[in-house]
Amino acid sequence: MKLYDVYPLFDINIVKGKGCHVWDDKGQEYLDLYGGHAVISIGHAHPHYVDMISKQVAELGFYSNSVINKLQQELADRLGELSGYDDYQFFLINSGAEANENALKLASFYNGRTRVLVQEKAFHGRTSLAVEATHNPKIIAPINANGHVTYLPMNNLSAWETELAKGDVCAVMIECIQGVGGIRLVTSEFMQGLRALCDKYDTVLICDEIQCGYGRSGKFFAHQHTGIRPDVITVAKGIGNGFPMGGVLISPKFTPVYGQLGTTFGGNHLACAAAIAVLDVMKQEKLVDNAAKVGAYLMEELKKFPQIKEVRGQGLMIGMEFEEPIKDIRRNLLFEQKVFTGVSGTNVIRLLPPLCLTMEEADVFLARFKKVLA
Ligand SMILES: Cc1ncc(COP(=O)(O)O)c(C=O)c1O
Repeated sequence: MKLYDVYPLFDINIVKGKGCHVWDDKGQEYLDLYGGHAVISIGHAHPHYVDMISKQVAELGFYSNSVINKLQQELADRLGELSGYDDYQFFLINSGAEANENALKLASFYNGRTRVLVQEKAFHGRTSLAVEATHNPKIIAPINANGHVTYLPMNNLSAWETELAKGDVCAVMIECIQGVGGIRLVTSEFMQGLRALCDKYDTVLICDEIQCGYGRSGKFFAHQHTGIRPDVITVAKGIGNGFPMGGVLISPKFTPVYGQLGTTFGGNHLACAAAIAVLDVMKQEKLVDNAAKVGAYLMEELKKFPQIKEVRGQGLMIGMEFEEPIKDIRRNLLFEQKVFTGVSGTNVIRLLPPLCLTMEEADVFLARFKKVLA
């Protein structure tokens, strides 16, 4: 059987990883400034993570959500403590899109409405309502185009107020740092204004922290730079450091109802062991502070490159916009300098390294980047 060919692939077979480095099947080492789409948070093959998962799978990999799973509560307790949301409730699923589907579903159960506002260039996933909430007509199939979603300009509060004042908006879904959309940041004024408007019109404020969250921005959540608390927060990617998981943090104003949400795999024992290991390492190795420190250094140094039109970002979520398409720069970084980076659109290089990136590794990247731009 052939694979369904939807991914344009680099001709590289990665077989091993350690920290911020990966190796191909020929033994070639690469510096990983992309973390496989912002997924590797604590570094590849961290010993504590390997140990926790190995022990758990040897004990019990899975049992269903019809019995007590103490690991789920342990994970929720750790997350509450580290994120500052210990008064929230936690629901576990398997991916980012699924987290957003459940967040939107919760919002609609809450206020009975069906309209959603998102930012232009938003990316919220590839399924059902999550893909309709993604501002890219190429990936919205006719069956997903159900007229639920309005796309609005980022940081233009009056445009959002006009829509919210109609009184029919179920939820507002925001990436405080847009990932796929090109590393664009909301302003604190916008988020504070939006928070007040959502309260006024009984609209649910959802922050999609799937890419910008869990320490990447230099605070635990990216919205914590703006001084607001959303009603619902969605997480995925780095929370399992590669183990497929998603989660929804839900404010106390939502009352759970048996059977309203559910999943077969979500929050299984193995997934919880992976996520607890991630939080252990984030805490012990102070990875949120590290993301803030190394990210600030990288951005400062990158701003010195005259070839770059604009450097944007927070912590270890950095975008470099060029006047020209970056395809060749990215290829040269990968094939000549052995550095993995990401891309947004045609002109932006995206850096999403593991949060354990050291200053020395940042310097190695800067030196290799300089060679590519020379
Ligand atoms: C901000 C954001 N939301 C949602 C998603 C969807 O996550 P997943 O691919 O796990 O469904 C992504 C994935 O890139 C994302 O960046």
